[in-house]
Amino acid sequence: MPKTPPRRRLDQLLSSCGYCSRSEARLWARGGRIQVRGQVVKAADEKFLPEEVVVDGEPLESPEGILVMFHKPAGCVCSHDEREGQRVFDLLPARWLKRNPPVTTVGRLDKDATGVLIITDRGDLVHRWTSPKHHVPKLYEVTVDRDLDPKLIALFASGELRLEEEPKPCLPAKLEIISAREARVELTEGKYHQVKRMFATQGCIVTRLHRSRFGEFELGDLPVGQWRKLAL
Ligand code: URA
Repeated sequence: MPKTPPRRRLDQLLSSCGYCSRSEARLWARGGRIQVRGQVVKAADEKFLPEEVVVDGEPLESPEGILVMFHKPAGCVCSHDEREGQRVFDLLPARWLKRNPPVTTVGRLDKDATGVLIITDRGDLVHRWTSPKHHVPKLYEVTVDRDLDPKLIALFASGELRLEEEPKPCLPAKLEIISAREARVELTEGKYHQVKRMFATQGCIVTRLHRSRFGEFELGDLPVGQWRKLAL
Protein backbone atom coordinates (compact mmCIF):
# COMPACT_ATOMS: atom_id res chain seq x y z
CA MET A 1 0.00 0.00 0.00
CA PRO A 2 1.41 3.45 -0.86
CA LYS A 3 2.01 5.58 2.24
CA THR A 4 -0.36 8.55 2.67
CA PRO A 5 1.70 11.77 2.64
CA PRO A 6 2.01 13.34 6.11
CA ARG A 7 -0.40 16.23 5.73
CA ARG A 8 -0.69 18.41 8.83
CA ARG A 9 -3.12 21.01 10.14
CA LEU A 10 -2.02 24.57 9.40
CA ASP A 11 -2.45 25.80 12.99
CA GLN A 12 -0.44 22.88 14.31
CA LEU A 13 2.28 23.39 11.68
CA LEU A 14 2.67 27.10 12.31
CA SER A 15 2.87 26.68 16.05
CA SER A 16 5.31 23.76 15.93
CA CYS A 17 7.56 25.78 13.58
CA GLY A 18 7.52 28.71 16.05
CA TYR A 19 5.53 31.22 13.99
CA CYS A 20 2.63 31.80 16.37
CA SER A 21 0.20 30.02 18.68
CA ARG A 22 -2.55 27.83 17.27
CA SER A 23 -5.17 30.46 18.04
CA GLU A 24 -3.06 33.16 16.37
CA ALA A 25 -2.76 30.88 13.34
CA ARG A 26 -6.53 31.09 12.91
CA LEU A 27 -6.24 34.90 12.77
CA TRP A 28 -3.27 34.71 10.40
CA ALA A 29 -5.28 32.47 8.08
CA ARG A 30 -8.34 34.71 8.19
CA GLY A 31 -6.07 37.67 7.49
CA GLY A 32 -4.92 36.03 4.24
CA ARG A 33 -1.30 35.50 5.30
CA ILE A 34 -1.21 31.80 4.42
CA GLN A 35 -1.13 30.35 0.92
CA VAL A 36 -0.96 26.87 -0.53
CA ARG A 37 -0.19 26.33 -4.21
CA GLY A 38 -0.86 30.00 -4.90
CA GLN A 39 -4.28 30.06 -3.18
CA VAL A 40 -5.02 31.87 0.08
CA VAL A 41 -6.21 29.39 2.74
CA LYS A 42 -8.57 30.95 5.25
CA ALA A 43 -9.20 27.94 7.53
CA ALA A 44 -6.33 27.00 9.85
CA ASP A 45 -7.73 23.53 10.54
CA GLU A 46 -7.20 22.41 6.95
CA LYS A 47 -4.40 19.90 6.36
CA PHE A 48 -1.57 20.29 3.84
CA LEU A 49 1.88 19.00 3.08
CA PRO A 50 4.31 21.22 5.07
CA GLU A 51 6.45 21.98 2.01
CA GLU A 52 3.42 23.48 0.21
CA VAL A 53 2.69 26.06 2.88
CA VAL A 54 3.72 29.69 2.34
CA VAL A 55 3.47 32.29 5.13
CA ASP A 56 3.72 35.99 4.28
CA GLY A 57 5.15 34.99 0.90
CA GLU A 58 7.88 32.71 2.32
CA PRO A 59 7.92 28.90 2.55
CA LEU A 60 7.70 27.53 6.09
CA GLU A 61 11.13 27.29 7.66
CA SER A 62 12.41 23.72 8.12
CA PRO A 63 9.12 21.96 8.96
CA GLU A 64 11.07 18.70 9.20
CA GLY A 65 13.29 20.12 11.96
CA ILE A 66 16.19 22.52 12.56
CA LEU A 67 19.74 21.23 12.45
CA VAL A 68 22.61 23.71 12.42
CA MET A 69 26.28 23.94 13.20
CA PHE A 70 27.00 27.10 15.22
CA HIS A 71 30.41 28.65 15.88
CA LYS A 72 30.03 29.44 19.55
CA PRO A 73 31.78 32.58 20.73
CA ALA A 74 33.24 32.82 24.25
CA GLY A 75 31.00 34.44 26.87
CA CYS A 76 27.66 32.74 26.20
CA VAL A 77 26.11 29.70 27.86
CA CYS A 78 24.40 26.63 26.44
CA SER A 79 21.68 26.71 29.12
CA HIS A 80 18.11 27.83 28.37
CA ASP A 81 18.06 29.71 31.69
CA GLU A 82 18.29 33.47 31.14
CA ARG A 83 19.63 33.96 34.68
CA GLU A 84 22.91 32.35 33.59
CA GLY A 85 23.81 35.25 31.28
CA GLN A 86 23.80 35.58 27.51
CA ARG A 87 22.67 32.32 25.94
CA VAL A 88 23.75 30.87 22.61
CA PHE A 89 20.04 30.97 21.72
CA ASP A 90 20.08 34.77 22.03
CA LEU A 91 22.44 34.79 19.05
CA LEU A 92 20.10 32.70 16.86
CA PRO A 93 16.74 33.50 15.21
CA ALA A 94 14.16 34.04 17.99
CA ARG A 95 11.68 31.81 16.18
CA TRP A 96 13.84 28.73 16.79
CA LEU A 97 13.24 28.93 20.55
CA LYS A 98 9.49 29.25 19.93
CA ARG A 99 9.40 25.97 18.02
CA ASN A 100 7.79 22.99 19.67
CA PRO A 101 9.99 21.40 20.81
CA PRO A 102 12.37 24.39 21.01
CA VAL A 103 15.94 24.13 19.77
CA THR A 104 18.56 22.86 22.16
CA THR A 105 22.29 22.22 22.03
CA VAL A 106 23.66 18.73 21.43
CA GLY A 107 25.83 18.50 24.53
CA ARG A 108 27.39 21.66 25.93
CA LEU A 109 30.45 23.85 25.75
CA ASP A 110 31.57 25.88 28.77
CA LYS A 111 30.93 29.63 28.82
CA ASP A 112 34.59 30.41 28.04
CA ALA A 113 34.90 27.70 25.34
CA THR A 114 34.50 28.35 21.60
CA GLY A 115 33.86 26.26 18.51
CA VAL A 116 31.43 23.74 17.07
CA LEU A 117 28.06 23.49 18.70
CA ILE A 118 25.30 21.48 17.07
CA ILE A 119 21.84 22.93 17.59
CA THR A 120 18.61 21.13 16.82
CA ASP A 121 14.96 20.68 17.79
CA ARG A 122 15.15 16.97 16.94
CA GLY A 123 15.22 14.90 20.11
CA ASP A 124 16.24 11.79 18.17
CA LEU A 125 19.43 13.55 16.99
CA VAL A 126 20.24 14.86 20.47
CA HIS A 127 19.95 11.32 21.74
CA ARG A 128 21.99 9.82 18.92
CA TRP A 129 24.88 12.25 19.38
CA THR A 130 24.97 12.46 23.18
CA SER A 131 24.29 8.87 24.12
CA PRO A 132 27.43 7.35 25.72
CA LYS A 133 26.80 4.23 23.62
CA HIS A 134 27.56 6.05 20.38
CA HIS A 135 31.08 7.31 21.25
CA VAL A 136 30.86 10.37 18.99
CA PRO A 137 34.42 11.75 18.59
CA LYS A 138 34.98 15.41 19.52
CA LEU A 139 38.20 17.25 18.75
CA TYR A 140 39.41 20.05 21.02
CA GLU A 141 42.27 22.51 20.67
CA VAL A 142 43.71 23.30 24.06
CA THR A 143 46.19 25.81 25.48
CA VAL A 144 47.45 25.27 29.01
CA ASP A 145 49.32 27.38 31.55
CA ARG A 146 52.52 25.27 31.69
CA ASP A 147 54.68 23.08 29.49
CA LEU A 148 53.07 19.77 28.58
CA ASP A 149 54.76 16.55 29.64
CA PRO A 150 54.85 14.05 26.73
CA LYS A 151 53.93 11.33 29.26
CA LEU A 152 50.39 12.72 29.11
CA ILE A 153 49.95 11.10 25.70
CA ALA A 154 50.17 7.60 27.17
CA LEU A 155 48.18 8.56 30.25
CA PHE A 156 45.29 9.97 28.20
CA ALA A 157 45.37 6.91 25.92
CA SER A 158 45.47 4.42 28.79
CA GLY A 159 41.79 4.39 29.71
CA GLU A 160 42.95 4.62 33.35
CA LEU A 161 42.85 8.37 33.95
CA ARG A 162 40.50 9.02 36.84
CA LEU A 163 38.74 12.31 37.42
CA GLU A 164 37.76 13.37 40.92
CA GLU A 165 34.36 12.07 41.98
CA GLU A 166 33.90 9.98 38.83
CA PRO A 167 33.25 6.30 39.46
CA LYS A 168 34.80 5.17 36.16
CA PRO A 169 38.08 6.21 34.50
CA CYS A 170 37.99 8.20 31.25
CA LEU A 171 37.80 6.25 28.02
CA PRO A 172 41.05 6.29 26.02
CA ALA A 173 41.61 9.73 24.49
CA LYS A 174 44.04 10.81 21.75
CA LEU A 175 46.40 13.60 22.76
CA GLU A 176 48.62 15.30 20.21
CA ILE A 177 51.11 17.85 21.53
CA ILE A 178 51.44 20.73 19.06
CA SER A 179 53.82 23.02 20.95
CA ALA A 180 55.07 23.44 24.53
CA ARG A 181 51.66 24.55 25.80
CA GLU A 182 49.26 23.63 23.00
CA ALA A 183 47.64 20.32 22.21
CA ARG A 184 44.75 18.62 20.43
CA VAL A 185 42.60 16.13 22.31
CA GLU A 186 40.04 13.77 20.83
CA LEU A 187 37.42 12.43 23.23
CA THR A 188 34.60 10.00 22.59
CA GLU A 189 32.66 10.85 25.73
CA GLY A 190 31.48 14.05 27.39
CA LYS A 191 31.81 14.14 31.15
CA TYR A 192 31.23 17.50 32.83
CA HIS A 193 34.19 19.87 32.09
CA GLN A 194 36.04 16.78 30.94
CA VAL A 195 38.95 18.34 29.06
CA LYS A 196 39.71 20.85 31.82
CA ARG A 197 39.47 18.16 34.47
CA MET A 198 41.74 15.76 32.55
CA PHE A 199 44.49 18.38 32.38
CA ALA A 200 43.81 19.45 35.98
CA THR A 201 44.73 15.94 37.19
CA GLN A 202 48.27 16.81 36.03
CA GLY A 203 48.29 20.31 37.53
CA CYS A 204 47.60 22.10 34.20
CA ILE A 205 45.02 24.84 33.88
CA VAL A 206 43.31 25.08 30.47
CA THR A 207 43.47 28.73 29.39
CA ARG A 208 41.89 28.25 25.93
CA LEU A 209 39.46 25.57 24.79
CA HIS A 210 38.14 25.38 21.25
CA ARG A 211 36.19 22.52 19.67
CA SER A 212 37.06 22.19 16.01
CA ARG A 213 35.06 19.04 15.24
CA PHE A 214 31.98 17.27 16.58
CA GLY A 215 31.50 13.84 15.03
CA GLU A 216 31.42 14.32 11.26
CA PHE A 217 30.94 18.10 11.57
CA GLU A 218 34.08 20.18 11.09
CA LEU A 219 34.00 23.91 11.92
CA GLY A 220 36.14 24.85 8.91
CA ASP A 221 35.94 28.54 8.05
CA LEU A 222 32.53 29.21 9.63
CA PRO A 223 32.96 32.67 11.22
CA VAL A 224 32.51 33.03 14.97
CA GLY A 225 28.88 33.72 15.94
CA GLN A 226 27.57 32.35 12.60
CA TRP A 227 25.66 29.16 11.85
CA ARG A 228 25.21 26.88 8.87
CA LYS A 229 22.22 24.63 8.26
CA LEU A 230 23.04 20.92 8.00
CA ALA A 231 21.19 18.29 6.01
CA LEU A 232 18.74 16.24 8.05
N1 URA B 1 35.55 19.87 28.19
C1 URA B 1 35.56 20.98 28.97
O1 URA B 1 36.26 21.04 29.97
N2 URA B 1 34.76 21.99 28.62
C2 URA B 1 34.01 22.00 27.51
O2 URA B 1 33.32 22.98 27.22
C3 URA B 1 34.02 20.84 26.70
C4 URA B 1 34.80 19.78 27.06
